[in-house]
Amino acid sequence: MVVLAASICTKGGKAVISRQFRDMSRARIESLLASFPKLIPTGTQHTTVETADVRYVYQPLEDLYILLITNKASNILQDIDTLHLFARVVSDLCRSADEREILNKAFEILGAFDEIVALGYRENVTLMQVRSVLEMESHEEKIQEIIARNKEQEAKEELKRRAKQLEVQRREQQRRAASGAGSGGMGMYGGLGGGASGYSPVPRFDAPEPTPSRITTSSPAPASRAPAFKSSGMKLGSKKTKQAELLDALGGEAFIPPTPEASAPPTPYAAHTPSTPALDSGRGSVPEVDQESIHVAIKEHINLSILRDGGVQSMELKGDMVLNITDESMAHIKLNLTSPALDFARALQFKNHPNTNKFTATQAEKVIALKDASKPFPLNHGTGVLKWRYVGTDESNVPLSINCWPSPSGNGTCEVSIEYDLENEHVTLYDVTISIPLPDGAYPSVSSHTGSWALEPGSHALAWSIPVISSDDDTKSGSLVFEVSGEDAGAFFPVNVRFVGQGSIAGVGVESVKTTTGGEDVPFSVDSLVVVEKYAVV
Ligand SMILES: *[C@@H]1O[C@H](CO)[C@@H](O)[C@H](O)[C@H]1NC(C)=O
Ligand SMILES: *[C@@H]1O[C@H](CO)[C@@H](O)[C@H](O)[C@H]1NC(C)=O
Ligand SMILES: *[C@@H]1O[C@H](CO)[C@@H](O)[C@H](O)[C@H]1NC(C)=O
Ligand SMILES: *[C@@H]1O[C@H](CO)[C@@H](O)[C@H](O)[C@H]1NC(C)=O
Ligand SMILES: *[C@@H]1O[C@H](CO)[C@@H](O)[C@H](O)[C@H]1NC(C)=O
Repeated sequence: MVVLAASICTKGGKAVISRQFRDMSRARIESLLASFPKLIPTGTQHTTVETADVRYVYQPLEDLYILLITNKASNILQDIDTLHLFARVVSDLCRSADEREILNKAFEILGAFDEIVALGYRENVTLMQVRSVLEMESHEEKIQEIIARNKEQEAKEELKRRAKQLEVQRREQQRRAASGAGSGGMGMYGGLGGGASGYSPVPRFDAPEPTPSRITTSSPAPASRAPAFKSSGMKLGSKKTKQAELLDALGGEAFIPPTPEASAPPTPYAAHTPSTPALDSGRGSVPEVDQESIHVAIKEHINLSILRDGGVQSMELKGDMVLNITDESMAHIKLNLTSPALDFARALQFKNHPNTNKFTATQAEKVIALKDASKPFPLNHGTGVLKWRYVGTDESNVPLSINCWPSPSGNGTCEVSIEYDLENEHVTLYDVTISIPLPDGAYPSVSSHTGSWALEPGSHALAWSIPVISSDDDTKSGSLVFEVSGEDAGAFFPVNVRFVGQGSIAGVGVESVKTTTGGEDVPFSVDSLVVVEKYAVV
């Protein structure tokens, strides 16, 4: 046994945390720590002291000490190295070196200590290896969070889908009942005109409307809820005509899941969890888009290196547009694209699908249509119809500007100011993380910030998080200021930025969709995402 314990204690010798690597009573370690501060010679730079039985190898950690208690046969140089490694790990995990923060992270710190020393002997691990273990742990935690968030989202989607399905079934029932009731059905449609029946100012079709949403948002077991709806339907019906009563009753019945599909419990997500879902979908917190039978998916990838002193080292933006038509009657269409006022959009290179007509960036009207207008677009199939690309170094095209400004104070510390500004009104950025490397072993002291910040233990970087950056509210710009020990302004680069964007940086969008036959407008949905390949200040 060599290293007996690794501890963090107050200047007064009270244990904050301690990991014993051999069998030691609590009283023993407490008395060793309590006697330690009295042994430290004043006014010296020594980092070890000895008693008759043990050696202490220590270093201050702001107002605390971090120390190893070893036996006297231990290799002192290796112990000093081990202690430094411990101290760096603590600075990777803790936002500051005070008692509360250390206790907050006690579990992680002790876990990391065990990576470094086992049974009293130093493991052959480097700082990088310990960091990657810590990173893996925090990564797992993040994945768990994402999975939980996804489940919630999927459950919501499922409920929405079911509500739609039930609504369709209910209407179908109503329609059947209406046609079955003959002239009574006509009477009901008359009711739509408003007050024709003289009973209710509320159109018949709308009356039961609130119910589906009530059922679907609150009920995990629609079957058991159905009677409740039914009785409330009857109650409403008591003020209505006989036909309306009948319809309500039928409508109520329709909520007793009529098909096995509809009655399946809304928990299919259980099957998804083994794969890593949100990471695959890649949309983070970007809201889902309800798909119409003409759906356009736009995806852009950005790869950007901004120079720390201003200017762009390299920027590449690649976009593509995929059309998915799910209704056969909507396959003869053309898309009219938006014409954004961005200068930048004129610098794009467009590439059209060979079967569609061509256009260039400078062309005012950009229409995507099949060359052979008599042909339909493929059905139920994601058809890539357009690609675009921008490569350049024009700083005015940077969508989110980052200004990271370290100022060495001349007394061994650096003050770092960093700010961002959204420069592109076509995008809203979600889950933004701006991560600024810190000098090894340094604790940042953050004096002001928008958003929130944390440490990334795997890279010892300060991770500044902003949930949403949008051009039309006060999240458009933000700043963070911190002070940290270290004089090297270069240590704070490269700054890495991650986000998922909604919209198109290039401003490519769909203005309208018209049929090629009649030229009338048809509904469509667009889902535009921006994915970061690399976004860094170097
Ligand atoms: C420690 O690990 C490194 C590589 O991980 C290896 O090259 C070295 O030989 C190891 N040292 C000992 C003493 O095992
Ligand atoms: C296409 O959209 C532009 C606006 O982006 C509009 O000026 C133009 O009239 C539209 N063309 C057609 C054929 O709808
Ligand atoms: C097209 O849309 C349908 C309905 O939303 C969907 O099931 C299908 O997976 C989509 N296909 C592609 C290739 O995106
Ligand atoms: C270093 O100087 C800055 C201002 O120049 C001051 O705010 C800070 O407290 C000083 N730090 C130390 C450790 O003296
Ligand atoms: C980003 O662009 C740089 C320079 O053009 C290139 O070296 C790098 O491989 C690109 N990275 C990605 C992830 O595409």
